[in-house]
Amino acid sequence: MSNESWGSRVGLVLAMAGNAVGLGNFLRFPVQAIDNGGGTFIIPYLVCFLLMGLPLLFIEWSMGRFGGRYGHHSTPFILDTMDKRRFWKYLGVFGLFTNIAVAAYYCYIESWALSYAVKSLMGVFGGMSQAEVSAHFDEYVGLGTNWPITFWILCLALNTWVLSRGLSGGIEMVAKFAMPLLIMFGILLAVQGLTLTAGEKGAINDGWVGLNWLWEPDFSTIWSPKVWLAAAGQIFFTLSVGMGTIQCYASYMKSKDDIALNAMSAGWMNEFVEVVLGAAVVIPICVGYFGIEDMKQIVADGGGFGLAFKTLPYLFNNWGDVLAIVAGFSWFGLLFFAGITSSLAMGTPFMGFLEDEFGFNKMKAALSFGLFILLLGAPAVIFFNEGVFDEFDYWAGTVSLVVFAVAEVVLFSWVFGMKRGWKEITDGADITVPTIFKFIIKWVTPLILIAVFIGSLDSIWDTIMFNKETGYLSKPENHNIIIMGRLILLAVYLGLSFLVYVAYTRRRKTGRIT
Ligand code: PHE
Repeated sequence: MSNESWGSRVGLVLAMAGNAVGLGNFLRFPVQAIDNGGGTFIIPYLVCFLLMGLPLLFIEWSMGRFGGRYGHHSTPFILDTMDKRRFWKYLGVFGLFTNIAVAAYYCYIESWALSYAVKSLMGVFGGMSQAEVSAHFDEYVGLGTNWPITFWILCLALNTWVLSRGLSGGIEMVAKFAMPLLIMFGILLAVQGLTLTAGEKGAINDGWVGLNWLWEPDFSTIWSPKVWLAAAGQIFFTLSVGMGTIQCYASYMKSKDDIALNAMSAGWMNEFVEVVLGAAVVIPICVGYFGIEDMKQIVADGGGFGLAFKTLPYLFNNWGDVLAIVAGFSWFGLLFFAGITSSLAMGTPFMGFLEDEFGFNKMKAALSFGLFILLLGAPAVIFFNEGVFDEFDYWAGTVSLVVFAVAEVVLFSWVFGMKRGWKEITDGADITVPTIFKFIIKWVTPLILIAVFIGSLDSIWDTIMFNKETGYLSKPENHNIIIMGRLILLAVYLGLSFLVYVAYTRRRKTGRIT
């Protein structure tokens, strides 16, 4: 059993913020906002943050600290300490599965960011036309050169190495270094974006046009279920809730450490980076050069990576040779830092599980994670264009989070019970948590989550049945490969459940049941 803990409070909060602040803030948020009508998206998004995001942060932080007291660092056994019924352990497997399956494709995007940062420094995009920048990306993900695989493996090695150094010597150090740099790069780009002036340097709109579009609430579509589902999904992904990483990080806290203020600090820091910094870069720059309608079209055609990888490097060229290099390096550097502080978090639950249950040391646990991601990531990398990547993102990065969150909120509020739950949240708290949250956590959050889940069933069914009319699912030639991807995910879930079963049996035999 590990008795490792965080080095300092600042380190813990920065690591938690680094966990939350990720590619989701800079790649996913703008695309969701654009797809769902800009200002139309913002109200549901903020409501979901307050009624679902913050409560889930409180729940996950306190579950983690609670399980940590019994020496547990992964959700199967954290859930097990909260209620004796056996099935919780297997629901807890989601907290291992999601991280591994998300890391499998996430580390790949992270490696694009790293290689694109290097390419920017080398001036590769200087003088390229928009079509050339776009073709460059297509060649990249089509594995036309050695770069993608080389950088992917480099990235995995880097993650493994940092993870093997432990919490304070590895993750905390990276967070303390990466978070301030990321914010600095973000501010630099946001200033560039917001000071764009129509008629100068090729821009057709002021930078503010894009920002206004995002922040002008539109009440006419406020009841659209599609927008609410997208907003809820974004809140999940960006806060890293429903994943198991927050519980894992929190399980290394001391039993009297504050939760309320720490959770708030990390959560709000993520929102600052997402809706202030994140929103001030991609959208203002793209609206500045293309206008709103064309920007929507680029997203519709090129998907999530259309703006970030296929368009921005070209737009930066408008700013002159030197600034183009600085901006390109800042943008991809920021993405890389955002990505690595999150992928490190994804490694910890599996490592914690192997250390707690099978006595692995850090090095062995980190290597196991790295190897697992290499194997599981390979189909997503090789069959990127056939949709395996998106399929992993859909099942692990979208559906699983909601399923796991429903399970944990029911466990916390109703089985473990709000009385004990509230005590866990407020014990050692450095702020007074408004009592209204007691009501929200017991009633509002579970109801919203169940509504989100039921609302998604339609789309889940359509995905399973390949009923979608656009995108990779609509191409019959990809279906067998996609089914293979799904079976791999299922095998991972079952494999992890088996490991949990073995661990549980061992605990029973050796009398280590808590
Ligand atoms: N929150 C991260 C992001 O916004 C993603 C993440 C998922 C982090 C799962 C940790 C665990 O990109």
